Amino acid sequence: METSKVMIRPATKADTPELFRIEQRCFDSESFSRRQVNYLAMQSSGKFWVLTEGEKIAGFIVLLQRTNTQALRVYSLAVLPEFRGKKYAQQLMQKAVLQAQEEGKDRLYLEVSEHNHEAIQLYQKLGFELTGIRPRYYRDGSNACLMEKKVEA
Ligand SMILES: CC(C)(COP(=O)(O)OP(=O)(O)OC[C@H]1O[C@@H](n2cnc3c(N)ncnc32)[C@H](O)[C@@H]1OP(=O)(O)O)[C@@H](O)C(=O)NCCC(=O)NCCS
Repeated sequence: METSKVMIRPATKADTPELFRIEQRCFDSESFSRRQVNYLAMQSSGKFWVLTEGEKIAGFIVLLQRTNTQALRVYSLAVLPEFRGKKYAQQLMQKAVLQAQEEGKDRLYLEVSEHNHEAIQLYQKLGFELTGIRPRYYRDGSNACLMEKKVEA
């Protein structure tokens, strides 16, 4: 059987309805609105990359840049359930590391729910460390773990 080609490319306007569907399936009540997805993919100064398997979008990563900090923020990361466990999140995060290096940033940072064990395990495996807690950060009242990973120049 032929295996589908896996690629990472920038999101386009045509992707936004599918990206919105992925958001809703992966994040439920915490998902971005259609407008937010459109803004992040098309207008923000950050990066919105999609990982495709064949013709299908399997997941995405959103990075936000801020000029006054040496850290690049991983704002969102998601892989559809049917594509999980194939190291796609790791590949997307690798792209974030390269982007940070390209921008001369010295670290990546992100927030993740204290209950999101899969994601926390992934981040720890990739070298992220817990640097703080934001109490009651999410709509359900749960805390956010603030995690950072150093990026070599
Ligand atoms: C977290 C998420 C992005 C992982 O995507 P993925 O493509 O399946 O991840 P990978 O295949 O790259 O997994 C790499 C590592 O993550 C961890 N991991 C992934 N799924 C896991 C699970 N179900 N249980 C425990 N650890 C898990 C493991 O350490 C795994 O390494 P291994 O394959 O060597 O065991 C995906 O589950 C997801 O989209 N979840 C919903 C959205 C979300 O929570 N995003 C993060 C918000 S901060």
